[in-house]
Amino acid sequence: MPEFILSLHQVHTFLGQHHILQGVSLQVPEGQALVLLGRNGAGKSTTLRTVMGLTPARSGHIVFNGGDISRARPFEIARAGIGFVPEDQAVLYTLTVEENFRLAMLEEDQASHDRQEAVFALFPDLKKFWKSKAGVLSGGQKQMLAIGRTMVNDHRLLLIDEPSKGLAPILVDQLAESLNQIKSRTTIVLVEQNFRMASRVGGDYYILDDGVVAHQGRMEELARDHQLKQKYLGIA
Ligand SMILES: Nc1ncnc2c1ncn2[C@@H]1O[C@H](COP(=O)(O)OP(=O)(O)O)[C@@H](O)[C@H]1O
Ligand SMILES: [Mg+2]
Repeated sequence: MPEFILSLHQVHTFLGQHHILQGVSLQVPEGQALVLLGRNGAGKSTTLRTVMGLTPARSGHIVFNGGDISRARPFEIARAGIGFVPEDQAVLYTLTVEENFRLAMLEEDQASHDRQEAVFALFPDLKKFWKSKAGVLSGGQKQMLAIGRTMVNDHRLLLIDEPSKGLAPILVDQLAESLNQIKSRTTIVLVEQNFRMASRVGGDYYILDDGVVAHQGRMEELARDHQLKQKYLGIA
């Protein structure tokens, strides 16, 4: 058994000419939600996209579940067991909730249907709107669809990019509760700008700043460290 489900070692990523990730190293222990924090433009989304092979690392190593995935293609990485929920709820508005699920399923078998039932238990609205077009869902429900349809696959690890963005505070709390239930089965890497959400869900945290890891530790320590929050997150 590897000690960490995912680790990044000195990862460098370029977008065009721009050197975005400048030697990011981080370790994700299994069975918790690790939170990735930092200002806008710090490189949080690029880190998730680099793990998924969407913006591949130019150098460095990414190890998942004991295997090197640094040079793997996105579909190989998904099949290896990493689920990705990108920013901005990329659900298909003109398709029904059911069709969104069908498209997301990597394979359809009894186990995936059992997981679908578990998703209904977590997000009952998805069952309620099963035959409705995704376009009619509220922002919170779309976010639940984006997360829920990813969860029907047998992932060991879920990468979720700013799920609380644009949600009312009560929905943020509900989502935090759901992620806390998910993380007992599936390790999570959560990108968040919403500190309330991050502190409800997070175990370990990493703060990215200008493409490097500026700080790391336990979320409960960060919650008490007002200087650090002010410096990197702009929270008084
Ligand atoms: N397609 C792109 N080409 C060049 N630079 C980009 C592109 N997309 C994002 N960036 C830049 O990369 C940096 C990191 O972006 P991103 O990873 O999205 O940050 P975060 O998710 O932390 O807000 C930012 O400075 C952003 O302007
Ligand atoms: Mg981002």
